[in-house]
Amino acid sequence: MKSIISVENLIFEYPQGEECEAIRAVDGVNLEIEEGSFVAIVGQNGSGKSSLAKNLNGLLVPTSGSVKVKGIDTKDDETIWELRQNIGMVFQNPDNQIVSSIVEDDVAFGPENLGINPLEIRDIVDEALDSVWMGDYKKKAPHLLSGGQKQRIAIAGVIAMKPSCIVFDEPTAMLDPQGRRDVMKIIKELNVEGITIVLITHFMEEALQAERIIVMEDGKIVMDDSPYKIFDNIEKVRAVGLELPVIIKLISELRKNGIDVPKNIFDIEGMVNYICQ
Ligand SMILES: Nc1ncnc2c1ncn2[C@@H]1O[C@H](COP(=O)(O)OP(=O)(O)OP(=O)(O)O)[C@@H](O)[C@H]1O
Ligand SMILES: [Mg+2]
Repeated sequence: MKSIISVENLIFEYPQGEECEAIRAVDGVNLEIEEGSFVAIVGQNGSGKSSLAKNLNGLLVPTSGSVKVKGIDTKDDETIWELRQNIGMVFQNPDNQIVSSIVEDDVAFGPENLGINPLEIRDIVDEALDSVWMGDYKKKAPHLLSGGQKQRIAIAGVIAMKPSCIVFDEPTAMLDPQGRRDVMKIIKELNVEGITIVLITHFMEEALQAERIIVMEDGKIVMDDSPYKIFDNIEKVRAVGLELPVIIKLISELRKNGIDVPKNIFDIEGMVNYICQ
């Protein structure tokens, strides 16, 4: 396994001034993320997911321990741009991520800051917009687009930096069901193209689409396994306060009623095949 992200004994605390004790948001995390993989991070509100994510791209730096992306230490000021170029981040609210009044200018913002030749930028922007199916909207004003379209523009802005890894922090939380499906489809396409994906989500159906799920609780990693193994342990998943995906609930109810659904079924397609065989 070749790691793209290496996190060692990461502790991250938000300082609270002299009077109060600092808030420990990440509490001793060790984590290796394989290059080209698709990892989901789940956990209850306040479990430390976003704090961990911001430590991955240097928006926050460790209180102790270390985070390295492609060998670049996030604490090293001299390589911060190289780091940010390698690991992009997409947040929940697309409105906070869009900086220009024309779509194509917005997507060009990142590569311009990297000092890329303007002629090259044009191609990069077109390519990035095409990969989020927004090529026809390049001259439009972002504020006239739907939430899902805006989020896709935000994703294009990150793709235009040609990162090797993208961290998505609840990218679908503010979108309608169609917007959510579109964004998930794009995330999967990006992964197929070789980009490492870290997806933070509250939607277990989305987490099921990853090849590995990391569960956080109180700043710590409490489960780290394939979706199959994670959701095979229903009691533990419930104990950490997570919802079960609908398909898992269905399988569990069927088993309780004596229908021996095989253990390797984890999605609707598998279920349909089983029922219709
Ligand atoms: N800017 C901040 N200042 C102080 N404490 C913070 C700050 N941001 C987060 N925290 C605290 O750090 C802990 C972890 O928060 P974090 O936002 O990382 O969790 P999360 O898992 O992303 O939650 P959510 O699912 O609600 O997004 C919580 O106790 C939270 O209150
Ligand atoms: Mg969060």
